[in-house]
Amino acid sequence: MDLALGSNSRLFQSIRQRQHYTCGLTTEESREQIEELCSVSSNFESQQAFGKDLTSKFEAARTRWKLLKQQGLRYASKKLEEANEKITSIRTVNKYADALDYLNSKKNPFQTCMFPAQNPKPPTTQSFASGESGSSERCLYVPPVPPKLLSYDWKHCEFAKRIDELEIPRKAFINSIEKLIVECTVHPTAQQLCRKWKTDRGLDSKEGELLLYLVFGRAYEWNLESILMDVEVAMRSHAKVQEAIQSQLERTSISYDAYDLLEREIWTFCENTVAPRKALDLVYQMKPVLEQTGVSIEDLCNVFGPPKHLVQVGPHQAILDFYQGKTFVEDFMPLDEKSEWPTVGDHLGDSHWGPVRDLGDFNGGVIVKVIKRNKYERRANGLDKWNDDPASEVAMHRYLTSIGHPNLVRFEAVTMDNLNVYYYQERGVELFSTVKRHRERFWDQWKKTLEDKPDGYHLDNKSPWEQRMCKVFYGIFQGVAFLHQNRIAHRDLKLENMVAVHSEGQLVGKLIDFGVALQYGEWESDMRNHGKVGTYPFMSPEMCYNMRAMKAAKAEIVISDYQTYDAALNDAWTLGHALWGYAMGVLLWNDIASTDVRFTIATRAKFSSNPSPWRFKQIGLRYLAKRYGKSRTSMCTENLIDLMERLLCPEEERWTMEACLEHPWFDDIRF
Ligand SMILES: Nc1ncnc2c1ncn2[C@@H]1O[C@H](COP(=O)(O)OP(=O)(O)O)[C@@H](O)[C@H]1O
Ligand SMILES: [Mg+2]
Repeated sequence: MDLALGSNSRLFQSIRQRQHYTCGLTTEESREQIEELCSVSSNFESQQAFGKDLTSKFEAARTRWKLLKQQGLRYASKKLEEANEKITSIRTVNKYADALDYLNSKKNPFQTCMFPAQNPKPPTTQSFASGESGSSERCLYVPPVPPKLLSYDWKHCEFAKRIDELEIPRKAFINSIEKLIVECTVHPTAQQLCRKWKTDRGLDSKEGELLLYLVFGRAYEWNLESILMDVEVAMRSHAKVQEAIQSQLERTSISYDAYDLLEREIWTFCENTVAPRKALDLVYQMKPVLEQTGVSIEDLCNVFGPPKHLVQVGPHQAILDFYQGKTFVEDFMPLDEKSEWPTVGDHLGDSHWGPVRDLGDFNGGVIVKVIKRNKYERRANGLDKWNDDPASEVAMHRYLTSIGHPNLVRFEAVTMDNLNVYYYQERGVELFSTVKRHRERFWDQWKKTLEDKPDGYHLDNKSPWEQRMCKVFYGIFQGVAFLHQNRIAHRDLKLENMVAVHSEGQLVGKLIDFGVALQYGEWESDMRNHGKVGTYPFMSPEMCYNMRAMKAAKAEIVISDYQTYDAALNDAWTLGHALWGYAMGVLLWNDIASTDVRFTIATRAKFSSNPSPWRFKQIGLRYLAKRYGKSRTSMCTENLIDLMERLLCPEEERWTMEACLEHPWFDDIRF
């Protein structure tokens, strides 16, 4: 339309111009001029005709365009309607609807209240009510006499090859199976297979694989080394799982066959989904199997424990933890009935959920984290998208305290009133505030000491500040190593989440804040993870740019894997930041981007998409420290710089916690 108008107006102007010429002409005008004018006038007529033609063409185009516009609008609104319909139908047939309904209903044993009753302890005796006796008397269940696998005839046994392949000693294998059968804690299928083995003197390879699975669990696939080290110990540890399965199934009406189907489905989900896995996704995937077996989600929870734990650690670990009462549910664990726990004290800090208070010398030094119940409930209902979740934190902290390590603050208790939940834990002194309060003073003293020392003395000799730091961080590294040994990643390590506790005249570094800590399954030796949690800019580049290749390109960052990252190595990276922060008292960089010069210098341009300009420049953490002046670089030895550089490097080169604990920086602590 604009084009038409524009053209018309230009035409109009040219017509007016010509009219003006004609009007201004006199009869005395030269012939040439008249001829020219005539040609102009004839041109003008033809142009007028052309103009008319053009106008009508424009008119036609305009009408056509209007029509198209109308049609387009109609089409678009139809599509919008269709899309809306689709969304409504998807919403009504929400794939999670059933699962959500269930998980939010009173039926869910973990949702009945914020503090559900603890998992009842399993029966300790092996006695069962006799179904056939007709009497109400309880009879001792006598297991059938197990077949004795005396003759070790492997001739017809295809499975023997598999055993040899795995280098499992046959005698040790049979001995162990016999023990298991005698103890009657084995899956009935294992008994059937053994019976068959005895009578037929053989098992085919399929049956053999099944037997291996039943006696070792999945461990023989992902942890063969430990099985081969001690066949009997490996079997015994899986026997505990079998015992748990047996006991949990007795509490429900689920048959072993149904259980097998459920377990297989859970394994499929867990092994094919990168952590963190969602409980609702599992429940959705399990729907057909649940329908097929007639098992309710309630029963599923009663066997395996809370789905949130199940999806992370897999069916065997989950069932064992639940059976042993170690499971920590989505909601808080049972409220400790300790009405005498105080709730007021000095304000120590703030968490997202409420204030943190120091209770003085109560119980030898305890702090209370106040969690506002309305905030908690918003989180539980999915209204608050905050990454951590106090329920998971309490659960994880209880678990960690139950397995116990001196470098993790002790969980004490959890209580509540109408407004708040009170979460008590051992008190420490947060490292971030320590740096703020004391570093300057230590530097003033060290400066004086250095005056009498030769140049470069600080490169090999720790300042008192660094000596103190080394002690505290040895504990911190041990705490993190312990988490990793238990396949748990902290995922938010920073000075604010570390404390020092005075214990028997020693300063001990400890970890706090397990709000986003995540436990992995036995099969996940490298703790693969996706998603972004923790604190910017402390997180590793591979976590920061996970599934964000475009953003990485914008920040001129290159990493080897944009799909998943190792959560344990991400913890290691964040420790590099904490070391720098404690030693220097400044932030290492503002942005995880090559455009942040400090980032590029500190990481030796190893993440830069264009590292060549840096090839001949001075880079590295020592250079950065020098740029900050004497007060920074002189309180940092070469060993410390080296340790930090082992952590702040690409994932493939980064040191694990075990390796770091062997680093020469810790030599004086170790020896
Ligand atoms: N056990 C503790 N000892 C000393 N201070 C603590 C302790 N726990 C928490 N704090 C203080 O409270 C702050 C917030 O607690 P934290 O558990 O880290 O909550 P958030 O999950 O919100 O980070 C910490 O940074 C620290 O200053
Ligand atoms: Mg914190």
